[in-house]
Amino acid sequence: MIWRPPDAVWHASAARQEATGLAVVQLGAPVLRRRAEEVEQVDEGVRTLVERMFATMYAADGQGLAAPQVDVSRRIAVVDVPPRPGTPYALINPSVIAASDSVVRAVEGCLSIPGVNETVERPAEVVVEALDIRGEPFRLEAAGDLARCLQHEIDHLDGILYIDRISPLARRMLLTRFRKQQRALVE
Ligand code: NI
Repeated sequence: MIWRPPDAVWHASAARQEATGLAVVQLGAPVLRRRAEEVEQVDEGVRTLVERMFATMYAADGQGLAAPQVDVSRRIAVVDVPPRPGTPYALINPSVIAASDSVVRAVEGCLSIPGVNETVERPAEVVVEALDIRGEPFRLEAAGDLARCLQHEIDHLDGILYIDRISPLARRMLLTRFRKQQRALVE
């Protein structure tokens, strides 16, 4: 179930389609492990970054993207969870203000750790507060894939990756698969 004011939606626009994609940094980049900075003012620079993040996310066929993934250490994330057309959200200074006790397990991947994925357990439902692209606060009550995606992206803003939320054994195996694949790409 989702509740939010309609004006918080990031509407699809010509500008977004023309926006230029950004390079996505990969596991090992220090920016992915830093706590990102609060956005003091939602200005044109932030809105342009949001457009480019959406373009980058769609080009990579992702469901969510956090600013540190494009080497910008600020608390900004975009999400659009299928089925498409879904509802795109831009979230500035987002935080999870409530999470359900019930948890659910599902497979996650990350554009910064391409080619691998793993099952992650997370609260089934969350309530998120954030600012929209005009700096207006909004609240999102989410379940299912959207709840999962929001938690994954907000984790990024705290330097947390989904591989931190799996067992040490699963993490070792995943990293082995990832490195093997990276080597194969180079060769
Ligand atoms: Ni990710």
